[in-house]
Amino acid sequence: MRRNIVAGNWKSNKSFNDADELITDIAEGLREFDTIDVDVIVCPPFPYLELIGDAAEDVEFFVGAQNVSKFEDGAYTGEVSARMLSSMNIDYCIVGHSERRKYFYETNQDVAEKVNRLLAENIAPIVCVGELLEDREAEKHFEVIRSQVEEGLFHLNENDIQRVIIAYEPVWAIGTGKTATKEQAQEIHAFIRNLLAEKYSDDIAQEISILYGGSCNAKNARDLFAQTDVDGGLIGGAALKSEDFIEIAKSF
Ligand code: 13P
Repeated sequence: MRRNIVAGNWKSNKSFNDADELITDIAEGLREFDTIDVDVIVCPPFPYLELIGDAAEDVEFFVGAQNVSKFEDGAYTGEVSARMLSSMNIDYCIVGHSERRKYFYETNQDVAEKVNRLLAENIAPIVCVGELLEDREAEKHFEVIRSQVEEGLFHLNENDIQRVIIAYEPVWAIGTGKTATKEQAQEIHAFIRNLLAEKYSDDIAQEISILYGGSCNAKNARDLFAQTDVDGGLIGGAALKSEDFIEIAKSF
């Protein structure tokens, strides 16, 4: 059965010392509640993965990266390969975040290649999809999301697709304080699950966690997560405040 998940995407934030302080506070907060109903994932910048991994040794949470190279190990200066992540026991990795699509020109094809690299190393990809404001205004949001899901994921077989987590992050809601309504989120999540059911099967579609991201916070998380097809959140800004992040993890 699919899991409830709350993942914190720290993006390109925090000094080493601030990261240390934040993870200490998060670990403290997690120690005080029973995480049996939710998988908590923390995705720091690459240089802090080991620090976060150490904190995860005595508290129940998982460590994720925010990106991975589409290439294997080799002469690719500045890249971090899936094999490196797996050698550090990284469990999850975000792929195709809208900021990567926008600033680093990542395509659906790149997403597909990165997903393959991660699965080959036994790391669960958290694949982001989501429309721009202009797509929604032009009523093209379903079309955009369909092609992101199809081109990024539909090359996978029935087993591998079930190892993937999908995050719906409407670009107009990211970092803007403008959250999708629970109805808007549910509509797209159900649409994505239906695409999965049509391509694979209803049973398989039911196994896949679909997270919401975009100005999700301690106040709106409960309403969003109560939607049938919303299995948790991918959290940006609110993941940088330990109390808010813990509160969101308790919102099921
Ligand atoms: P915010 O929660 O800051 O809107 O960011 C969402 C996001 O992009 C998570 O990946």
